[in-house]
Amino acid sequence: MNMPIDLQRVDAAESMRRRVLEWRRDGLRVGFVPTMGNLHAGHYSLIAAARAQCDRVVASIFVNPTQFGPNEDFATYPRTMDADAAGLAAAGCDLLFVPDTAALYPFGTAAAVRVHVPVISAGLCGSFRPGHFDGVASVVAKLFNWVQPDAAYFGRKDFQQLRLIERMTVDLGLPIDIIGVDTLREPNGLAMSSRNQYLSPDERERAAEIYRTLQAMGHAIRQGSTRARVETVAVDRLRAAGFRVDYAVIRRAGDLSEPGDGDRTHLVGLVAAHLGKARLIDNLLI
Ligand code: PAF
Repeated sequence: MNMPIDLQRVDAAESMRRRVLEWRRDGLRVGFVPTMGNLHAGHYSLIAAARAQCDRVVASIFVNPTQFGPNEDFATYPRTMDADAAGLAAAGCDLLFVPDTAALYPFGTAAAVRVHVPVISAGLCGSFRPGHFDGVASVVAKLFNWVQPDAAYFGRKDFQQLRLIERMTVDLGLPIDIIGVDTLREPNGLAMSSRNQYLSPDERERAAEIYRTLQAMGHAIRQGSTRARVETVAVDRLRAAGFRVDYAVIRRAGDLSEPGDGDRTHLVGLVAAHLGKARLIDNLLI
């Protein structure tokens, strides 16, 4: 591996593409970590994974308007550019791409081409956040096209997003390796997320109940409980702990389809639940 160079910031999409093309022409492998900023240790673990496997690492920061619903937190999503740039430099990122909305949506967001990934985007968060995954797939396709990396890194915490991007990449024939990176957790088990900062200190402690519930779901499946029973118990448990539950389900890990009762492996437990002002998601492979 070549040594990292100092972090540079590029805002213009054309300059971004030129820089990566130069690196690739020199035979360097380029890893890409797309983000919406407000970076935490989970994001830096994606940079570390890219750093370990690639010669050059590009990160992007873009709070993508098309993946937020009308009543969601687009306007208030935390924007912390200076701290993020310092963190990326310390983590060994080489290039920070900060496109503006006009660069990614030259005809405006309403008139933009949309990438829809059927089946995998239906259900789970797709049912509770209509249009969210079209927004994610569209912006990631655009970012992939500007950056043209060899590999791109995504957290496993956003499990449905990871499966969606894997599928989009294969379906569109994009020559990019999609790498899923394990979820980083707080000491109490709470999955790291930018939205955790919407939680009060007391809620942060209680939010760890999601992880404990996922562990209990896995245990119950391995002990032979039916999926229906496991899901009902999980929802009741989360409600009793003060959550408003969107879903607590068991799915096949490969394609998120509903498993039969005979299926006991290659499964994933997935939870989305609201606590205070935060909507939290998490999952655990079974
Ligand atoms: O996971 C995220 O932060 C976003 O959904 C992504 C992949 C950067 C697209 O905006």
